Amino acid sequence: MLRSVGKGGLLLLVCMASAAYAEPGLDGAKLVQEKVCLGCHQIEAARVGPPFKAIAERYKDASDEIVTYLGQAIQKGGRGRWGVIPMPAQPRVNDEQAEAIALWIRSLN
Ligand code: HEC
Repeated sequence: MLRSVGKGGLLLLVCMASAAYAEPGLDGAKLVQEKVCLGCHQIEAARVGPPFKAIAERYKDASDEIVTYLGQAIQKGGRGRWGVIPMPAQPRVNDEQAEAIALWIRSLN
């Protein structure tokens, strides 16, 4: 099948595949509004949870695996890392969205 498509067609297929992968609109800044994270977190100031900038600062020297760690921390919530107030799990955030938010938090440094 690939032979009959030729080089141009193959290139087109690759472009289409990467466009689908990038999922336009997965903007971390927008997601934290849509997923009501901002009810508990602000960017600069502490609210119920730590400010996103403080989170970025804490993990600024971590390797790229921090994106996976933060994505899971967002989905599962947790306690005891910042204070006594726990963060509830966020079941409405899927893997791709969690990763996009984690990347965005990291970019705040
Ligand atoms: C009900 C309040 C609440 C909501 C809603 C909430 N958080 Fe949190 N978040 C917290 C609290 C409290 C902590 C600190 C938990 C701790 O001390 O371990 C926290 C911690 C975090 C951390 C740091 C985790 C770590 O390991 O250092 C990240 C990242 C985070 N929240 C992202 C989000 C995102 C993104 C959303 C929206 C999808 C969200 N939070 C929604 C309260 C909330």
